[in-house]
Amino acid sequence: MQRVFSGIQPSGVPTLGNYLGAIRNWVPMQDTHESIFCVVDQHAITMWQDPKELTRQTREMAAALLACGLDPARCILFVQSHVHAHTRLAWIFNCVARIGWLNRMTQFKDKAGKDRENASGGLYVYPNLMAADIHAYHATRVPVGDDQRQHLELANDIAGKFNHDYGVEFFPNIEPHIMGVAARVMSLRDGTKKMSKSDPSDQSRINMTDDAETISLKIRRAKTDPEPLPSEVAGLEGRPEARNLVGILAAITDRMPEDVLREHGGQGFGTFKGVLADALVAHLSPIAAEMRRLLDDPGAVDALLRKGADRAREIADPIVARAEELVGFLPPR
Ligand code: AMP
Ligand code: TRP
Repeated sequence: MQRVFSGIQPSGVPTLGNYLGAIRNWVPMQDTHESIFCVVDQHAITMWQDPKELTRQTREMAAALLACGLDPARCILFVQSHVHAHTRLAWIFNCVARIGWLNRMTQFKDKAGKDRENASGGLYVYPNLMAADIHAYHATRVPVGDDQRQHLELANDIAGKFNHDYGVEFFPNIEPHIMGVAARVMSLRDGTKKMSKSDPSDQSRINMTDDAETISLKIRRAKTDPEPLPSEVAGLEGRPEARNLVGILAAITDRMPEDVLREHGGQGFGTFKGVLADALVAHLSPIAAEMRRLLDDPGAVDALLRKGADRAREIADPIVARAEELVGFLPPR
C-alpha cells in the first residue's frame, strides 16, 4: 500500500480553505493508503508564534483534524516536534539543498515580504524541513494545496541529489497530489488573495470554529460585484469574488461549478449568499460541535497525539538512522 504523508501548520484556527483544500481530501485516503498526518509546529515557528497560543492552536488543529474525520485507528496523527527524526533529517537536507534552489521558492518571497533581511533562517530552510517530513517515512504520495507544488518539486530534487551524492537509491520519488475543485479558496474580502489563517481580517475567512450566525454574517458581507451570477463558467472570467463563492458552494455540495451555475445563474448575490450560508452551516456545524466536545477533554487529545508520535517514530527512526549512516556519521550505538 502506498504511504501518504501530509502536514498542516497550527498557526491559527483552521479555515474553510484548509478544510476544502486539504483536510477533507485526507479523510478518504485513510481507507486506500497507509496514512500519516502531522501538525507541523516546527514549521509554524518560522514566523513568530506566541508560545501559549501555539500550544492551544496545536491541540485545536489536532481536534479539528479528528472532528473532520481523521481516525487514529486508520491513520497516524501526531505533532512534528514529538518525533525528532524530522529535524535530524532536515539538518542533512540543509546540507544537500543548494542556496540557489531555496532562492527560487515563491513562498519564502511571499512570507518574507519586503524586509527579507529580517526573516528567520528557519523560514528560508522551511522547504528542507518539509522534505524531511516526507522522506523520513519514505512516503510517496503527498496531498497538498496547489501552493505547495513548488516545495514538493524541491523535495524531489533533494532526494535526487542525496541519492546521487551518496550513490544510493534510498529516497523514493514523491508524487504530488494537488487537490480538488476548491484547490484554492480565496479571501472573502479580496478574490485575488488566498483565504488564510494569518490574514489580519477575520472577515476574510470562515474558521472551522465559527458558529452559524458568524458564518452567515461573513458570507452576507463577502465582497461581490453588482452583476447577477452568470449561467456559465466562462462568465466568471474577471470576477474573482463571484468565482470564489461559486467554487465554495460547488465544493461543499460535491458538485462542479458548472452545475452550481446551471441552478443559480441569473440570481443576484442576495439570494445566492443565503443558499451558500445555509450549505456551509449545515456542513460545518457538526464539525465545530465535535471539535468543542474533543477540546473539553484536552488530556484525551494529547494522549492520542502521544500514541500517534510513538507509531510515527517506529517508522521514521530507522529510516533516518540509515540516512545518517549513509552520510557517514559514526553510529551512536
Ligand atoms: P497552511 O494553512 O498554509 O498550513 O496550509 C495547510 C494546507 O491547507 C495546505 O495543504 C494548503 O495548501 C491548504 N490550504 C491553505 N489555505 C488554503 C486555501 N485558501 N485554499 C485551499 N487550500 C488551502
Ligand atoms: N508546508 C505545508 C503548508 O504550509 C505544510 C507541511 C509541512 C507539509 N510539512 C509537510 C505538507 C509535508 C505536506 C507534507 O501547507
